Amino acid sequence: MTELIKVDAIKPERSLMKKAACVILQGGTVAFPTETVYGLGANAFDHNAARKIFEAKNRPADNPLIVHVSSFDMLSDVCEFVPESVERALKKFWPGPLTVLLQKSEKIPEIVTARLPTVAVRMPAHPVALALIEESGVPIAAPSANLSTRPSPTKAEHVIQDLWGKVDVIIDGGETFFGVESTIIQVEDGKATILRPGPYTREELLQVFEEVEVSAFAKGAKAERAMAPGMKYKHYSPSKPLYLVCDKQKFVEISLELSRKGVQHTAIGTLDVLQNLKSKKIALGRGDNLYEVAKNLFDALRKFDSDSSAFALIHGFPEQGIGLAIMNRLRKACGGVCISSCEEIFNSLGSLNNLKEKSVYGF
Ligand code: TXA
Ligand code: MG
Repeated sequence: MTELIKVDAIKPERSLMKKAACVILQGGTVAFPTETVYGLGANAFDHNAARKIFEAKNRPADNPLIVHVSSFDMLSDVCEFVPESVERALKKFWPGPLTVLLQKSEKIPEIVTARLPTVAVRMPAHPVALALIEESGVPIAAPSANLSTRPSPTKAEHVIQDLWGKVDVIIDGGETFFGVESTIIQVEDGKATILRPGPYTREELLQVFEEVEVSAFAKGAKAERAMAPGMKYKHYSPSKPLYLVCDKQKFVEISLELSRKGVQHTAIGTLDVLQNLKSKKIALGRGDNLYEVAKNLFDALRKFDSDSSAFALIHGFPEQGIGLAIMNRLRKACGGVCISSCEEIFNSLGSLNNLKEKSVYGF
């Protein structure tokens, strides 16, 4: 049985947060909003509680969880030590969407870190997430609160779609703020490597670290040697084909050509790019604000999933600032390839005739 608890996102009601914290302390699972995406939390010190997260999400056991803390005191229970360069970064960027890898403490059971010697830790900036951790008094292990491979949840209704009946509590605190998951970094000899790009950009990290590298994998390279194990799995995927057209002009041309040929599809993009298209459209916001795009991205993928088109096109974004995180998620959602012609779509979906038989035509 799942209980839905609605709270105020900015001033969460104390009595409701206490109730959710009790569930955490009794070894249960609680989905809650963070500033990035919703997380599915359990007591990070409790092996059995953490196991329930893997079960509810159908998450592979070799994909470790992020541990969420609400204070630096709590951090000292989670990791062995904090190198000086990392501490400087955490003082600047926490609470906020930055996850760091540190040497794990003995108190964190192996199931949480998938047997790795390191633990991924972050202090979320969302009032509801912080209140839940504070009221519980224990660090909370929490991956994104979606079923494995599905787009991450940015609204309580997404969590309900994926996890209703599989978790104890879902806290509805409205829409999350950023819409893409935290930036994950690894720091060695004062040099930071971005393993997963997120809301904190390379440019911002450079205010604290002399060098900030973006791992090849975070930029879209194939995954065998992924440093964040979860990055090798299929991610963020709608259940129907989604094609990434990196170039916006090409995206418009391909969509118009498909419409001329009568091939029904959905075009996902910013309002300025979508305006003259004839297909179904899902808007990601205005083209001049990539933070708005990030916030709407996963919701758009879920909307496409439940519309009647057999496939969708989405256009690319400049890989700077938060654009790097957006493109990283898009590449994963599209299987890592960028297409530049209708033929590539037809070849991948089967022949045009095949398409006709499946009656994906718009008439
Ligand atoms: O914004 C976020 O980070 C959200 C919210 C809920 O905090 N959480 C999130 O968790 O995105 P999840 O599980 O969906 O992604 C965690 C990523 C995975 O790719 C996992 O492999 C990686 O972090 N990770 C966790 N522990 C790690 C470790 N010790 N070493 C390397 N990568 C690790
Ligand atoms: Mg996830």
